[in-house]
Amino acid sequence: MPMIPAVRGTRDILPGEIERWQFVEDVARRLFERYGYAEVRTPIIEREELFAKGTGDTTDIVQKEMYTFTDKGGERITLRPEATPSLVRAFVEHSLEQQMAVPKLYCLGPMFRYERPQKGRYRQFHQLDVEVFGVHDAWIDAEIIDLAWSLVSELGIQGSELLLNSVGCPVCRPAFTAALVAALGEDVKRLCGDCQRRAATNPLRIFDCKVPADQAIIDRLPHTIDYLCAACTAHFDQVKRHLELYGISYRISHRLVRGLDYYTRTTFEILIGSLGAQNALLGGGRYNGLVKALGGPDRTGIGFAAGIERLVLALPEDASIAIARPDVFVAAIGDAARLEAVRLVKQLRSAGFKAQLDDEGRSIRSQMKTADRLKAPLAAILGDNELTKNEVTMRDMASGEQTSIGRADVGEYVRLAMPRVKPPLEAAPRGQ
Ligand code: HAM
Repeated sequence: MPMIPAVRGTRDILPGEIERWQFVEDVARRLFERYGYAEVRTPIIEREELFAKGTGDTTDIVQKEMYTFTDKGGERITLRPEATPSLVRAFVEHSLEQQMAVPKLYCLGPMFRYERPQKGRYRQFHQLDVEVFGVHDAWIDAEIIDLAWSLVSELGIQGSELLLNSVGCPVCRPAFTAALVAALGEDVKRLCGDCQRRAATNPLRIFDCKVPADQAIIDRLPHTIDYLCAACTAHFDQVKRHLELYGISYRISHRLVRGLDYYTRTTFEILIGSLGAQNALLGGGRYNGLVKALGGPDRTGIGFAAGIERLVLALPEDASIAIARPDVFVAAIGDAARLEAVRLVKQLRSAGFKAQLDDEGRSIRSQMKTADRLKAPLAAILGDNELTKNEVTMRDMASGEQTSIGRADVGEYVRLAMPRVKPPLEAAPRGQ
């Protein structure tokens, strides 16, 4: 039988890599909770129209990248390409603002986009997504950016850069769009087919274009921040002032309109050079009209999403990550000792330790080799001699030093040895 491989653009995350994922997820959860965010889990499938209306039907995501199918009941179903519309839906459907003083939500899980796979870009990928509803003031924009920046720095990721822009609001957007179309003029005919379509449907989307030949024209186009209304200018100034208060430096990027239709005012991304073409670790912004557009009350929203694959790729090599290893390997020589070893392993596991046993009744030499391969810092050895004396031989696997202790004292011995042998990770994430 030929092997059936995984679907293109999807990946198995195996032991050896999964520890890095668990580290990222663990640091993120603890950080989000420190900032007052509560976890929400929404379904992976939603109605197609949620993204058509939410993400926006002139975006590449909706036009080209969604996994949509008709289910057996005739319903059009989409595998979520992003989490923001789902969180807005959950916020509205469950009237969360009545239950939470300031609805601050986060979620994590798989997203699906039919993109061309390459390093850092997959068809099933995973996001950490954070959203806040109902706060108008610019301080929340800065706090969200501070949260995103803290995530990257608490993971120990070096060399990242924050890009910032404001894309205005429905008051100032029409003047900007008109200026954009006027500036394009006849050049529109020299742009790619997608851009010609964008020029007719939603000219702002031209900034999403990646076609090399179009870039010189796009770089000459007007900047959103030169067309902001007074309220958007004041908001943007405040965001910048608050960021200075946080001590976070940024670069204004005029092209940062982001590839989703819902943004108003603040947009931002954190990039990292070491990831090559797929260099956005995370991106987000404010979306003041989305909650209402999805049938909810007129509430503002702001948030960001980080790609977990990209955070994992950008982690430093020496990130202090717990490796999956037992605390103790229990080795036994002889049938009687094996029975006692089963009891000892059970006892250690019940006491909260990771304990493993040789499954095959092999020689003590190969059992020690297994303990080494598993990177167990301690081995507990049981043989006839130990059984007679009601003792266990404890071996420090790094130094080879052996100590005989009473059978009843094994748990205490392992507990005392743990701080010495524990990997640094489990204590705390790396600092800034
Ligand atoms: P986005 O920029 O489309 O924004 O995606 C956010 C992050 O998800 C990207 O910066 C990247 O790290 C990761 N990502 C996106 N596509 C892929 C892919 N094909 N493979 C691997 N990683 C990927 C959003 O999704 C918005 N919902 C963010 C947001 C939340 N805005 C406001 N609230």
